[in-house]
Parts: sequence; structure tokens; C-alpha cells
Amino acid sequence: MPITIGIIGFGWMGQIHARLLKSNEDCIIKAIADKDYSKLEIGRKLYNIDVYQDYHELLNRKDIDTVFIVTPAKFHYQIVKDSVEAGKNILCEKPLALTREEVNSLRLIVNKSDKKFIICFPERFAISSQEAKDIINDGLIGKIDYIRGNFRFGMKEHNLIHGDWVFDRKQGGGLIIEASVHLWDFIRWLTGSEIVTVVGVAHEYLKNDLTIEDNFAAIAYLENGGIACIDMSGSLPKDSATDKRFEIIGSEGYIYIDEFRNYMTINSNNGIDANPGMIVKGMTHKDFMWHSHVEGGVKRLQKYFIDCLKMDKKPEPGIEDAAKSCEITWALMDSLKSQKLEKVTYGL
Ligand SMILES: NC(=O)c1ccc[n+]([C@@H]2O[C@H](COP(=O)([O-])OP(=O)(O)OC[C@H]3O[C@@H](n4cnc5c(N)ncnc54)[C@H](O)[C@@H]3O)[C@@H](O)[C@H]2O)c1
Repeated sequence: MPITIGIIGFGWMGQIHARLLKSNEDCIIKAIADKDYSKLEIGRKLYNIDVYQDYHELLNRKDIDTVFIVTPAKFHYQIVKDSVEAGKNILCEKPLALTREEVNSLRLIVNKSDKKFIICFPERFAISSQEAKDIINDGLIGKIDYIRGNFRFGMKEHNLIHGDWVFDRKQGGGLIIEASVHLWDFIRWLTGSEIVTVVGVAHEYLKNDLTIEDNFAAIAYLENGGIACIDMSGSLPKDSATDKRFEIIGSEGYIYIDEFRNYMTINSNNGIDANPGMIVKGMTHKDFMWHSHVEGGVKRLQKYFIDCLKMDKKPEPGIEDAAKSCEITWALMDSLKSQKLEKVTYGL
């Protein structure tokens, strides 16, 4: 029996999810819900499925076992809560929610449910990320002492393809929570170490009479003594290629990834088994990654989640990963005010 899916929120990302789900024969999209009638018309035309302006009607459908929640962050808390109460498995888009109270409440609600939950962090499912994780697990670069990442794109025209909510801290949370959760989760997952303290600087600009950060940089200490450094910019000109790079430096070697330019370099003191009888100190894979984290990553995350549902396996990243990535961003926001290194508070 295929997994039956309802998508709540059919904007930019909801439509990407639907398109990528089409090639997965183990699931079927049964319905979509969106407050905006024009989005429902797009869905009806493309997929010839049932559409609802009120997502509760979708949740009432007994023939839908799984929901994808793809609305702006402001609505995630209520929709996740209602979906758990309706007995659905859940894929929730990042960030999980916008306040500590909501995040802690969702920890309890989701943990009590016997259904499955995954947060959509496709960075973990990019081919480059998975190769890097294998290389690290094989001990080729030793202990990770330093990890640097950046994520840059053109955000200032975002309202042309996403809603205006992106510029409203009350609806989307701002650039720091909206986008850096990807990087914090990636760092936690790749290093296997929690972030304990963080400090940051940010530049803000005015959009729609509201201030919102457009550029920021942050440095953090990891539990294992290593350090992480990230920077993000939403200031690239419209239609610029997204720029996402990681440098992972260990005691025995390093990995450089340029995700959107399809490039990855590995160097190791321990030697890399390139071919039978051919041990090299360094190598570069060109054109190695398929479609970066968007598209390729999302598609593989969906497939993994649907396989977990079929095999009754607990998926990852789960509710705890979803919560922790938000909590790191709140410590970073605190440090912008205090101009000091702030401790990350996890949980209550
Ligand atoms: N994982 C990723 O890589 C990634 C990438 C982009 C966006 N996202 C996330 O996806 C979510 C949606 O972003 P987007 O870019 O698609 O935004 P969007 O503005 O393009 O679409 C959001 C849609 O949700 C609908 N909506 C809002 N409230 C609703 C409600 N209560 N019930 C039903 N529909 C509702 C809106 O009408 C809109 O069509 C956000 O959480 C965003 O952070 C994730």
C-alpha cells in the first residue's frame, strides 16, 4: 500500500515537495491545503487532486496517513499540534517554531505520539554531505577541530517568489532562524558534537518598514572543544547563484565542499584509497554532487522518510534536532544584544 500524503502550504516549497514526490512510487499525494485559493488552483491543475482552504478538512481525511507541513514558520506550531491530534505522520519544514514555549510544547506532543516525525533538513541528504560523513566516520580526517560554512543568496527580492512573511520577524523569525538552522544542524550532525556557546554580529536593513538582518557571522564552541564559524548573507543580487561552502578541518586532514558549484576536495595524512593499489594524499571530485541540498537533498530526504514509514523505523532528523537548531539561533540572537558569548540553553 502506498503512503498517502496531504500537503499543507502549497507555495514555493510545497510545490517543490509535490513535484519531487511524483517520482516516488511508494507514495501518493491525495490532497493539498492552502489559505490562498490561487495556490489551490495550481495544485488542482497539476495533480488533479482534492484541495482545501482550511487544513482541518485535510486532517479529517482518514485516507491520508501523512502530512507535509510547508507553511511559514509562524503556523508550524498549531499545524503540527493539530496533525498529531489527527493521528498523522509528519514532515515539518524548518524552522520548527518561533518561541521556546512552542518548541518545548512540541517536544512533549511529538514524543508522546506513536506516529513518525521528520524535520526537513535536506543538507544532511546532499550527496556531498553524505560523502563527507562517510569520510569522517572512516577516520580519514581525524577529530574535527574547525568547521566553517557559509550560505549566501539573494533574499531582498524573496517576496517575488515567496510570501512577504520572509521579511517579518513575527512570521518567519528573521534570516538567522529561518536559514541558519540548516547550518547549525549540519554542524551538529557532521561533528556528532553539540554547540555549547555562540557569539555573533549582524547587519540589519529596513524592509516594509521593519528591520531584519541581511548579513551575519557567528562563531561557536562545540562540546568536543572544536570551533564552528558560519556566515550568511541575503544580499546577493537577484538571480545570483546560491553560494554554499563548507570547510571541515580535522587533526588528520580536511574536506572542502562547494555545494552549488559541484566540487569537493579531500586531503588526508592517512592516505585515501583512490583505486586498488593507489593510495593518494588528496583528491578532488568535480561535478560530483547532484543538485545540491535543494532538489537532490529534498528528494532523498523524502525517500528516506517514506522508507522509514514503510519499515516502521524512527526517522532522523527528528523533533530533538528540530528543537536544538532553533535553540542555537536564540542564543545567537541573545549574543547580538549582549555582545558576549552566550550559552545555548537546550530544553526547558
Ligand atoms: N528545507 C528547505 O530547504 C526550505 C527551502 C525553502 C523554504 N523552506 C520552508 O518552507 C516553508 C514555506 O516556505 P515557502 O518558501 O514555500 O513560502 P511561500 O510563501 O512560498 O509558501 C507558503 C504557503 O503557505 C500558505 N499558508 C500560510 N498559512 C497557511 C495556513 N494556515 N494553512 C494553509 N496554508 C497556509 C501560504 O498561502 C503560501 O501559499 C517555510 O517554513 C520555509 O522556511 C524550506
